[in-house]
Amino acid sequence: MLGPALLAAARSDRLRRLVSAAPVTRPVVDRFVAGESLDDALAVTRRLTGQPPERAGAAAGALEVTLDHLGEQVTDRVQALRTRDACLALVEALASERLGERAEVSVKLSAFGQALPGGQDLAYRNVLPVVEAATAAGTTVTLDMEDHTTVDSTLAILRALRERFPRTGVAVQSYLFRTEEDCESLAASGARVRLVKGAYREPPSVAHQARRAVDLAYVRCLRILFCGAAYPMVATHDPRLLAIAQELAARHGHARGTFEFQMLHGVRAAEQRRLADAGHRVRVYVPYGTDWYAYFMRRLAERPANLTFFARSLLTRS
Ligand code: FDA
Repeated sequence: MLGPALLAAARSDRLRRLVSAAPVTRPVVDRFVAGESLDDALAVTRRLTGQPPERAGAAAGALEVTLDHLGEQVTDRVQALRTRDACLALVEALASERLGERAEVSVKLSAFGQALPGGQDLAYRNVLPVVEAATAAGTTVTLDMEDHTTVDSTLAILRALRERFPRTGVAVQSYLFRTEEDCESLAASGARVRLVKGAYREPPSVAHQARRAVDLAYVRCLRILFCGAAYPMVATHDPRLLAIAQELAARHGHARGTFEFQMLHGVRAAEQRRLADAGHRVRVYVPYGTDWYAYFMRRLAERPANLTFFARSLLTRS
């Protein structure tokens, strides 16, 4: 029952102010968020990719990253332009790091104005220069997926971007009933597809509610992606799903470099290294910025132990 309450809290402005101002929050946030500045994000990127910038090509054992400048649900056009500019600054910094696709960018279209009037066009116009700059810097952009009301618009923006920048990727969520069909068409188009379970509170009319149903749907989606022409990005920390993905990759002849695993910064770091040492491509999702509240609440909602840890640090410091 805690999960839904935390996901509802993720949207509360009052709680945002309360939690963000509590001094004890910081150490817990630091587990999941690289820091507040671009420099913080670059420091974590260098540590994870673990190689001096002049060495090109991904070596076995090195991790890759996707960087997320935190922020979502902007309420006016000026904020949307600020997101665009922050992402352009990120891409410029990554270009100097010369990491190529080892450091790519994740974006939430609601931070580019998707929910504002005329939002689909607005978000497309704002994200386009970021994708152009990323391509020029030798890297890629992946569109995160937000709540179910945004899926059609996000996939439409993806299609438009892929006409010129076919390596643009997208996340899809196995908890949504529609996602197997979305995987079929994305796989047919050869897209880069990040498969996740889904992190928002969705109604039973559109999404599986039971964990087992979400996991079974995840496996069906994996099969579709590994059988088709997609570039699968298997984004989960779930040991059973990781094992099934490796089995499917072997069965369908997916060699290193034709799919990747993705995990969140601060979650199962030892497993990230183990998979990379075993020769797999592993990308860590690294969020940074001041607007960490909603992201942080979703991480708490995913695992009751995180909340216990957070509550304990509140009690011991107060
Ligand atoms: P599950 O929640 O069952 O966790 C399996 C195990 O992983 C747990 O038992 C625990 O050991 C560990 N674990 C998982 N989450 C943890 C946490 N927060 N803290 C500590 N341990 C944890 N969602 C979305 O809706 N849109 C998106 O665009 C994305 N993007 C995205 C990118 C990447 C790279 C990842 C890994 C995930 C996302 N997600 C996402 C989030 C995703 O939908 C999902 O909520 C989380 O990945 C948790 O689900 P798992 O598949 O890990 O399984």
